[in-house]
Amino acid sequence: MPSTHPFTQKIDRTRLAQLRQDEDQAFRQRIPRSIALRERALKHMPLGVPMPWMAGLWRTPPLYIASGQGAYFTDVDNNAYLDFNLCDLAMTVGYGNTKVAEAADRQMRQGAHYLAATEDAIAVSEELSQRMGLPHWQYTLAASGSNTEVIRIARFVTQRPRIVIFGGHYHGHLEETLVRDENGQSVPDTLGLSPGSSAHTTVIAFNDLAALEQTLARGDVALVLTEPAMTNCNLIMPEPGFHAGVRELTERYGTLLCIDEAHTLQFAYGGLTRAWGLSPDFIVAGKGLGSGVSFALYGMTEAIADVVTRTLDIDDGSPRGLALGGTLYGSALAMAVARVMLEEILTPSAYERVAQLGSRLASGLSAVFAERQLPWSAFHCGPRSGYCLAPCLPRNGEEGYLSLDYDLIDARRVFMANRGYWDAVGSAGPQACIAHTQTDIDGYVAAAAEFLDRIIKS
Ligand SMILES: Cc1ncc(COP(=O)(O)O)c(C=O)c1O
Repeated sequence: MPSTHPFTQKIDRTRLAQLRQDEDQAFRQRIPRSIALRERALKHMPLGVPMPWMAGLWRTPPLYIASGQGAYFTDVDNNAYLDFNLCDLAMTVGYGNTKVAEAADRQMRQGAHYLAATEDAIAVSEELSQRMGLPHWQYTLAASGSNTEVIRIARFVTQRPRIVIFGGHYHGHLEETLVRDENGQSVPDTLGLSPGSSAHTTVIAFNDLAALEQTLARGDVALVLTEPAMTNCNLIMPEPGFHAGVRELTERYGTLLCIDEAHTLQFAYGGLTRAWGLSPDFIVAGKGLGSGVSFALYGMTEAIADVVTRTLDIDDGSPRGLALGGTLYGSALAMAVARVMLEEILTPSAYERVAQLGSRLASGLSAVFAERQLPWSAFHCGPRSGYCLAPCLPRNGEEGYLSLDYDLIDARRVFMANRGYWDAVGSAGPQACIAHTQTDIDGYVAAAAEFLDRIIKS
């Protein structure tokens, strides 16, 4: 972002660049073993990591991790980091949770998977129904897989091709949602996609009910897929009445509605679907419930489950049906972990405690901005906070992206890392978790203040 950003004028860009350089150098000096391991790794893995995000999300050389405990992980050079990224919300109960470890250990010793159901799967589905309202559930390995199956079912049920998503979205690495709007045209957002993969996706501004109605009125939309609050472009909250409007319009035009809670299930007990009284046709979730074990799910209404049950592709000699499922989906291991997470860890009181920590984080950051007369605000929803580089919170993706000032974010991340705080990925914000304490939150806020003091014009 250019330094003409209207609300970052108090940042001294020369000092920021110098600080970044100094902190980058200090960081490299702290991680000689990681740097050596990377040299070895580069011979056999692109970027030296098993999956590109492990290097690409950070603007520093990748760390190689030795272990984790509670809210901390420790790299191979024995540097400990208090984690506010939490594996992009996959590890919101912290590392090495005893109950999770015991459940996983028990199930591994008995067999991780049989390609057959266990009683845990029934208990998990019962618990999800009680928490989130929808009666029927299916399981995958990742929210990307859940969204893929939901889109397929919605197309089949409605016999329509199109899906609608909102600007600032991320719904996983599936072709239909790797799409962006360019001057009113849907175009592929990344390389290597099938020709025409964006042809049946329309991207609309979040909070714009008029645009949504215009699109739905064409009568070809199978599914509206949205997060309850958009979490992948900082944080965009729905305006009052937005979700009620989306539900009303989708019902009026015969379109199904999916609420993607891949992140926001960590924000409130039963997700924001329950907290805000939403009534979608599908819910997608994942990440946090497996605590690192691949596990994701989608819920559906009775009416949709009825169609799915009658038309599944079950290889019984009848015509081919709906293609759902995968070899490792819904494994005994994942179900054992998810059950303990739901029944023993992600309790209403745990969510309450984390929300209090999230409030402390957001009010701490707000106070830091106010004391320095920065015209910024702190994002806040449940445990999530972050740096909104404007006085008003964004209403849509376009406004949300204005806070992605990567010069500022990258310098802050490495500054925080050198002081033992692992900050959130650039498009998110720091998030409180079950394993954090008030002292952890206060420490993060103090380090954030120290960073700003180093780069604000005197
Ligand atoms: C809202 C949302 N949906 C889906 C996904 C995809 O999840 P996964 O990477 O587990 O497939 C993500 C990942 O960040 C997400 O934020």
